[in-house]
Amino acid sequence: MRICLMGFGAVGQGVAKVISLKNDYLKEHYGLELKLVAVTDSSGAAISQDGLDPDLLLKIKSETGKVSNYPEAGIENIDGINVLDKVEYDTMVEVTPTNIQNGEPAKSLTIKAINDKKDVVTSNKGHLALFFRELIELSHQNGVEFKYEASVGGAMPILNFAQETLPGNEIKSILGILNGTTNFILSRMTIEGSSYEQTLQEAQQLGIAETDPTQDVEGIDAACKTVILANSILGIDCTLKDVQVTGISRITSEAIDLAKKEGYLIKLMAEVSPDSLDVSPRLVKQDSPYAVDGTLNMATLKTDLADEVTVVGLGAGSVETASAILSDLINIWKSQK
Ligand SMILES: NC(=O)c1ccc[n+]([C@@H]2O[C@H](COP(=O)([O-])OP(=O)(O)OC[C@H]3O[C@@H](n4cnc5c(N)ncnc54)[C@H](OP(=O)(O)O)[C@@H]3O)[C@@H](O)[C@H]2O)c1
Repeated sequence: MRICLMGFGAVGQGVAKVISLKNDYLKEHYGLELKLVAVTDSSGAAISQDGLDPDLLLKIKSETGKVSNYPEAGIENIDGINVLDKVEYDTMVEVTPTNIQNGEPAKSLTIKAINDKKDVVTSNKGHLALFFRELIELSHQNGVEFKYEASVGGAMPILNFAQETLPGNEIKSILGILNGTTNFILSRMTIEGSSYEQTLQEAQQLGIAETDPTQDVEGIDAACKTVILANSILGIDCTLKDVQVTGISRITSEAIDLAKKEGYLIKLMAEVSPDSLDVSPRLVKQDSPYAVDGTLNMATLKTDLADEVTVVGLGAGSVETASAILSDLINIWKSQK
């Protein structure tokens, strides 16, 4: 499978590591060889129809910061759309930054790849939260696969899990923790009794919260994932503006203490149901499946046959998120056999 990898940050580099680690295994078990024919970052691209060496790409990126420095195959300042025109490929793996203003550059790259009849795998939430229906319908019209397991909960398996492991079940609702940064902050405030500001600073020093933490702490990241779950699992036609969102920035250590004394924790919960699309801090029982600590994500799916099923996993991480991308690539490969 020839891959155009758009974006070479944490997740893109995770994809390269996974290809380097797993190619022999994939060939042996699935007859699948993943070949990187183009890789882009903000500097430009590296393009080779014969395939780029994932280890050399990682070395060059870490030493120079630019994939366009790849020997003989590097091109500076080339636009992603032009890269897609310059190379023959089967699947675009799109891992550029999430943009909740207009979904770019992911939206244009995805439309271009789908119109060119290529399969697409993404970890990006922005274009999905804003234009879910349009993008899915376009993929159906063009008869291509468009997969996005990594966009919700990183390595936590939820989309493929609901669709492939629970087929025949009607999923009535989902309640879960879909943001690792806020879960880390609330867990630390609970364990250490520290203030929100102090704990946010600690999370920033550890690289768990971004310098501008707004999207995480104000619940926007979780709201994007709520939209993706609502559309893809419950069939609810919605976008980001349909989600009620309250973040955690006004949660005090006193409120957490009070909850703790009564046997509860405060968690940023996302609810997906036909009656409610909501992200807000809620009280959950200390011994419930919602009591996961640190950067973990979890989700409980309420079904008509299997009752409640809970999944837990790491919501972020380079190789961890690439694991979800790999599962989409393998599923595409299997569906075409
Ligand atoms: N990190 C995680 O654990 C995680 C988990 C689940 C989902 N996600 C999602 O996955 C996506 C990638 O995340 P990440 O952590 O890898 O982000 P990142 O580290 O910021 O990497 C983004 C990559 O995209 C490149 N880029 C930036 N602007 C671009 C543009 N306009 N056109 C083309 N490329 C551009 C960057 O180039 P430079 O390298 O030159 O800066 C970088 O290589 C995001 O949408 C994120 O929300 C991330």
